[in-house]
Amino acid sequence: MDYRIALIPGDGIGPEVIAETVKVLEKVGEKHGHSFSFTEVLAGGCAIDNKGECLPQETIDICRDSDAVLLGAVGGPKWDHLPGKERPEMALLGLRGALGLFANLRPAMLFEELADACPLKPELVSGGLDIVVVRELTGGIYFGKKEIIETEDGVAAYDVEQYSEMEVRRIAKVAFDMAMKRNRKLTSVDKANVLESSRLWRRVVNEVAKDYPDVELNHFYVDNAAMQLVREPKQFDVIVTSNIFGDILSDEASQVTGSIGMLPSASLATGNFGMYEPVHGSAPDIAGQDKANPMATILSAAMMLRYTFGLLDEADEVEEAVRKVLAEGYRTADIAKEGEDIIGTRQCGRLIVDALDQM
Ligand code: IPM
Ligand code: MG
Repeated sequence: MDYRIALIPGDGIGPEVIAETVKVLEKVGEKHGHSFSFTEVLAGGCAIDNKGECLPQETIDICRDSDAVLLGAVGGPKWDHLPGKERPEMALLGLRGALGLFANLRPAMLFEELADACPLKPELVSGGLDIVVVRELTGGIYFGKKEIIETEDGVAAYDVEQYSEMEVRRIAKVAFDMAMKRNRKLTSVDKANVLESSRLWRRVVNEVAKDYPDVELNHFYVDNAAMQLVREPKQFDVIVTSNIFGDILSDEASQVTGSIGMLPSASLATGNFGMYEPVHGSAPDIAGQDKANPMATILSAAMMLRYTFGLLDEADEVEEAVRKVLAEGYRTADIAKEGEDIIGTRQCGRLIVDALDQM
């Protein structure tokens, strides 16, 4: 089977972490008899520099034509002076919209080997932490009507938070399906005490719940959810929420694990199409220095193997290889403690490829 992957290395450390991930995928292909073909395309700051826009049509077309997209990172100080609409980050929103990537899966897990990095008291996370935030990604305030207007009081601006029943239903189904594959526990997060869009959200989630009698569902207001995540994170398993709340809560959840440099993500459309990227950003301060941690991108590729290609054993193997390298004590700078030996991006990639070889 030939799997076609569009690669968006992007900016900063993006190209370095993507390069190591490609080596890992090639090793998986070699071991299991799959062939992965890669087409590299531009998005973000490098696309602004080369094509005059952050998301060229050609990039969208090639992504659409592929089975999956693997993205490194976009953005950097070089483009910070640009007006909002022209910034590299807009490429992400453009890709989400154009590719219909409505379901964003952001696992926040605590790697046992890195438990020290967790900023919470050990007793709060004993036995590990394994949460998935399912964030709605193509609706809500990010994509609602927005405008700058003149009012009696001067200039004003607004952004509309709007959700249709269809949009809530389809993300709820993704979350319930995820809960069924895990511990059958789902928390829906909204602000139904204040927002009409949240009341619709809650009603539709409750309707979908009828099809999943085995899933234990509860509802939290977003302010309470933010508090509970640091107070008692182990009460959460799958969290489903809107675009803006998911943006905020997924950052919080990732920080609770203490290893944001380790976390992958998937953005899925209907069917099996998806875009996969690390949760971390482009880290321009260490770009090109062989210092970046490629593990989050490699774990994103594992999600791609699992969710888009249905290669479950291969996905498990990649995750296992990452865990093995951690267990052997190898650390890139972002996850190293004082006094620990530090490896670079390329060595980290090589160690993971070697671990796959030995499995
Ligand atoms: C994220 C980022 C993006 C978002 C930005 C860069 C547009 O914060 O993927 O979480 O808000 O969705
Ligand atoms: Mg964010």
